Amino acid sequence: LPDNLDLKVEINKLKAEKNAIILGHFYQTDDIQEISDILGDSLALAQEASKTKADLIVFAGVHFMAETAKLVNPTKKVVLPDLNAGCSLADSAPADEFEKFVKAHPDHTVITYINSSTEVKALTDVCCTSSNAVHIVNSFPKDAKLIFAPDKNLGNYINKITGRNMLLWEGACHVHKEFSIPRIIELKNQYPDAKIIAHPECQNDLLIMAEHVGSTSSLLNYTKKDTGDQYIVATESGILHQMRKYSPNKHFIPAPPEDSTCACNDCKFMKMNTLRKIYLAMKYEVPEITLDEDLRKRAAKPIEKMLEISR
Ligand code: 13P
Ligand code: SF4
Repeated sequence: LPDNLDLKVEINKLKAEKNAIILGHFYQTDDIQEISDILGDSLALAQEASKTKADLIVFAGVHFMAETAKLVNPTKKVVLPDLNAGCSLADSAPADEFEKFVKAHPDHTVITYINSSTEVKALTDVCCTSSNAVHIVNSFPKDAKLIFAPDKNLGNYINKITGRNMLLWEGACHVHKEFSIPRIIELKNQYPDAKIIAHPECQNDLLIMAEHVGSTSSLLNYTKKDTGDQYIVATESGILHQMRKYSPNKHFIPAPPEDSTCACNDCKFMKMNTLRKIYLAMKYEVPEITLDEDLRKRAAKPIEKMLEISR
C-alpha cells in the first residue's frame, strides 16, 4: 500500500461505497476502536450482527465472533481481517473431545460460552456470553443438570452466583489466567484506594478480591458510574482506551501478568487486526467467513435461543 494512503479516510469511503459496517470489540487497538461503527462486548456485537442492514460485516474481533455473525445473519458477507485471529479459550474445547463429553452425560443440558467453535456450538443447547451467563443459567430450573463449557473460571463463578453445581469443562483463556495475584496485591498496597475490577474469565482467587466482576461492557459501565477514581483492571488492556475516554480524570491501572517482561494482558489474537488489514479486507472482501449450511443451522440454534432469552 502507498505510504501516503490515509487508511481512516479510505476505510470510511469503503463503508459508504459498500454499505459496510465495522463491528469492533473492546480489545481492539485504539485506532480500530475509533473507526468501528459499533463497539461492544460479545453480546452487543452478536445482537448488532443479527439485525444489521449492512451488506458487508467487517469483524474487528476474533474468529468465533465473526462466525457468530455469519450464524445469525447468513445472507450477509462477513470478513475477518486476519483469519489467524483465533481464541485460546475456544481452542481449549476441541469439538471431537467435547462431543464425547456431551455423549457421556446424555441427561445434561449443554450451555456453552460464545467463545467456542461453531462445531462446539452445534453440540450445544444454549449459548451465553459473560454479560448474560447468570440470566441464561437461571432460565433453567434449580435442579436442572447442566454442562458449562469451555471456561472453567466463568463456570465456577456462575456456579457460585447461582448456587448451581454445573459440570465444567476444563478450559481457560491465556490472557485471563495469567494475571498475577501477588503483583496485584503489591499494586493494591501501592494504591490502597484503587478498586479491583475483573472479567469473570479470571481465576477465582482474583475474582474474590474484586469489587466488581463483569463483561467488558459491564466493567466499562461500572467505571463510568462509580464514584471512585482509581481502578486496577483485570481484563485485556484494550478496554482501558474506552475507560480513559469516558473518565479522563480517573486513573486506570492494567492488572499485571506474572511475567513482567511479557505483554500477556494483551490478547495476541485480538491484536492481530490492524487498520491496514481492515482496509484490505473491506476493499477485496476477503478473508470471508463461510460455513457449511447444515452446520450453520445447527450452530445458529443455541445462539438464537440466547438472543431470544436475553431480549
Ligand atoms: P466480553 O463478552 O465480556 O466482551 O468478553 C469477550 C472475551 O473474549 C473476553 O476475553
Ligand atoms: Fe479468547 Fe482470551 Fe482473547 Fe478473549 S482474551 S478472545 S477469551 S483468547
